[in-house]
Amino acid sequence: LARGTADPDLAGRHVVISAGGTREPLDPVRYLGNRSSGKQGYALARTAVARGARVTLIAANTGLPDPAGADVVTAGSAEQLREQVVKAAADADVVVMAAAVADFRPAAYASSKIKKKDDAEPEPLALVRNPDILAEVAAHRARPGQLVVGFGAETDDVLANGRAKLARKGCDLLVVNEVGEAKAFGTEENEAVVLGADGSETHIPYGPKEALADRVWDLVAARLA
Ligand code: CTP
Ligand code: CA
Repeated sequence: LARGTADPDLAGRHVVISAGGTREPLDPVRYLGNRSSGKQGYALARTAVARGARVTLIAANTGLPDPAGADVVTAGSAEQLREQVVKAAADADVVVMAAAVADFRPAAYASSKIKKKDDAEPEPLALVRNPDILAEVAAHRARPGQLVVGFGAETDDVLANGRAKLARKGCDLLVVNEVGEAKAFGTEENEAVVLGADGSETHIPYGPKEALADRVWDLVAARLA
């Protein structure tokens, strides 16, 4: 195939990709957030468009330009992301959760700005669990044969942690990144191991996020076929 063209192996498929990181509002001016850039999710969206898919990209606080050819919707918090993902998943062939979803959110939202009180120390911040969007989508497949792909950032025993996470989430593929000081978050390059519910283990060498995205789509396309 000529440079710049891709095998349209995702033609006729609707893929839903979440990207970025959620922000959990605390008061009108503050939130709890994370350092996910959204770049890996956008690379997945661009490569899926190039391979012929209809792409819905659900972007959480990325500030990145919309990838050409993708339908982009935005979500701020985990609860908003959940609503958009579940809606888009209804007619999706593939759902990829590349977004970093906050595990917890403030237990209460203060509708007025939280102010300091004289010299008093602050109250501890109470948090509650957010819904697990990936586990929910995997447990309630909107159509038979729908593929569900998760991303997992791990430290320490990356493979063992990844296997446990794949089983816990109930997804088909889990793309596991080893994270550390300069790894993965906000960088242009990435490496990963993709674990399959079928026991497969695919190592993807360090390289551009686009290349990693294409290897993920290879694994997806093989399982859709
Ligand atoms: N995820 C999700 N909903 C959440 C948390 C995570 O859908 N509330 C998804 C992420 O989009 C990602 C996958 O689950 O695809 C794994 O996220 P990760 O934070 O690594 O997993 P957790 O189950 O939250 O485990 P940990 O305690 O290691 O953070
Ligand atoms: Ca988490």
